[in-house]
Amino acid sequence: MTFKTEIGTDILRAKQFLDKEEIVAIPTETVYGLAANAFSENAINKVYVAKMRPTNNPLIVHVAREEWIYQLATEVNEKAELLIEKFMPGPLTLLLPKKKLVPDIVTSGLPDVAIRFPNHPTAKKLLSQLDYPLAAPSANPFGYISPTTAQHVYNQMNNKIPFILDGGQCSAGIESTIIGFKNNLPVIYRLGSITLSEIEAVVGKVIINSNTKDILAPGMLKKHYSPSTPLLLTEEIDEAMKKYNGKNIGLITYDSYSPLLPDEQQIVLGKSTNLGQVAHNLYAAMHTIDAVGYDIIIVKKLPDEGMGKSINDRLTRASNV
Ligand code: TXA
Ligand code: MG
Repeated sequence: MTFKTEIGTDILRAKQFLDKEEIVAIPTETVYGLAANAFSENAINKVYVAKMRPTNNPLIVHVAREEWIYQLATEVNEKAELLIEKFMPGPLTLLLPKKKLVPDIVTSGLPDVAIRFPNHPTAKKLLSQLDYPLAAPSANPFGYISPTTAQHVYNQMNNKIPFILDGGQCSAGIESTIIGFKNNLPVIYRLGSITLSEIEAVVGKVIINSNTKDILAPGMLKKHYSPSTPLLLTEEIDEAMKKYNGKNIGLITYDSYSPLLPDEQQIVLGKSTNLGQVAHNLYAAMHTIDAVGYDIIIVKKLPDEGMGKSINDRLTRASNV
């Protein structure tokens, strides 16, 4: 099925498509999602097809109110409750044991459902007008860079979906932090817009699941979030530029332009002392620089702490040289 994809701000129009079991791209504060009625297998199937995502990679269910979490999960443990109170609405996704009413196709047959209460005015308004939650992966083709503007979604999803609800550029800019529980201990499955120390301040010590073997989350796949152009992540950008001397190089860096390359071939994401701004600009910069057709994109690696850890995580998965 092909569509003439519309972009608009009309929430009612978005609702009309969703009510007809069609897909709508929606803004959230992290990245845009490819949303469909979470209770409709038919609609969910279309999401997997549009995203070209294998059906063994489950989807996050987006809700409009905290009460909905209790309607989707059989049990919300105490630590989950603390996290809900502190971070929802916001860029947090919780893995909780699912009730039967959540279709297996949403969780790829897994016992837990991923639930998130986004904090974006347009998403909240839309969700509160629906009588079902929205299952949504990030609105990029499987493995590619996530979209943070309606235009990014259009570039990747034109003809594949009927409607993109435009809510401006996503404020946070990288995906939600995903937390599950093992023997009541919180486990981080994906670092994201909420940092490790912010989580630990609420629930104490958490485990970071870095064992890619039993990882169910493709966001944790070693290769992901990738541009088409080869990307090198390194602390030593001067050395890397010398190594690729003679090649057509694009550079993503922080604080100031490098004197080793014309300014037009560089994107300065922001100050390394303001990593919120860096995260906000990251994917847009990757979309822009990937479109140029450089031989190689060199990206400067950040100190591995706080939000820098989440940003490095995405860039490491995006890197392919
Ligand atoms: O910020 C975000 O989380 C964005 C916005 C749109 O909400 N969504 C997003 O979705 O990043 P996606 O599908 O690109 O990444 C969600 C990750 C995937 O790695 C998926 O495997 C994992 O969450 N996931 C979803 N449901 C799961 C479940 N039941 N058990 C384990 N992992 C799950
Ligand atoms: Mg994704």
